[in-house]
Amino acid sequence: MMAAQVIAWAQAPGKIILFGEHAVVYGRPAIAAPLQQVQARAEIFPDETCVVEAVDLGREVLVAQAAADDPLAQVVRLTCAALHQPLPSWRIRVTSQIPMAAGMGSGAAVSTAILRALARAFGKKMTAAEVSAVVYEVEKIYHGSPSGIDNTVIAYEQPVWFVRGQEPEPFVVGKRIHFLVADSGVPSPTREVVEDVNRAWKQDESRYETLFDAAGEIAYQARAAIEQGDVATLGMLMDVNQQVLAEMGVSSPLVERLVRAARNAGALGAKLSGAGRGGNVIALVQPVYAGQIAEAMRKAGAVSVIPTTISPEGR
Ligand code: PMV
Repeated sequence: MMAAQVIAWAQAPGKIILFGEHAVVYGRPAIAAPLQQVQARAEIFPDETCVVEAVDLGREVLVAQAAADDPLAQVVRLTCAALHQPLPSWRIRVTSQIPMAAGMGSGAAVSTAILRALARAFGKKMTAAEVSAVVYEVEKIYHGSPSGIDNTVIAYEQPVWFVRGQEPEPFVVGKRIHFLVADSGVPSPTREVVEDVNRAWKQDESRYETLFDAAGEIAYQARAAIEQGDVATLGMLMDVNQQVLAEMGVSSPLVERLVRAARNAGALGAKLSGAGRGGNVIALVQPVYAGQIAEAMRKAGAVSVIPTTISPEGR
């Protein structure tokens, strides 16, 4: 049998949150960057009906019959609606290198890859803002009331200064800055952790508002440090942000162990990234020490360590 001809394909990167997770839900600024080293990919083939094949999940979703809260079907429906197209007779095959529930934006990346592939197959263009808006609607299925930071940084594919409800602000990166992204291997249940923080905030609003303010202030200082390429200050700010996140109740013994291992092996700073309680830990490193720091994080329990950078060139 001949392999079916691909009509169109597209991909979308993972993401890391550098500063401001959780506080961003409460209107404080946050900084995030794409994680180009891992990608979600969608390929479109002719078929008899509209079906999403999630290869890694071993799932096939018939779009016309799927429930309204099925994220894979919903991104197809919303994209077709946004492009004023009927549901096509296409098979959308999705694969992803992005670990799930690891705080790396796998859900938003899969949605973005599907949307981009569909738009290409229809011969249509969508702006990053339009992509982000559609993917945000799907993010609500995964996370309840997300801030929108994941869909934004993945749709724009550049480091962003993000405030809930506002257009993201791209900003200058003073020099190439190196990070390691260590996956703890423990799923980070975003929805649950965000709800726990919300409960705790309701019980002690003034304490949590103070913590959110502190995270917001750190984000402002971090932006200035990134613009100036001041990695020593940036590392220190990551450590302080981690302390604030621990006080919010979103760290875990494993996260603390990974953070400590990175710092002891020479990282300039380290913190959890994303919702926490698992997920990933990011470490700011000087390239000469990256190998020994990655090794220390693996020994401390990381299941994978991905090197990444942000840079003035955008890659
Ligand atoms: O999806 P994650 O694990 O990267 O977490 C999202 C970041 C939070 O600030 C915790 C939630 C949100 O909606 O911004």
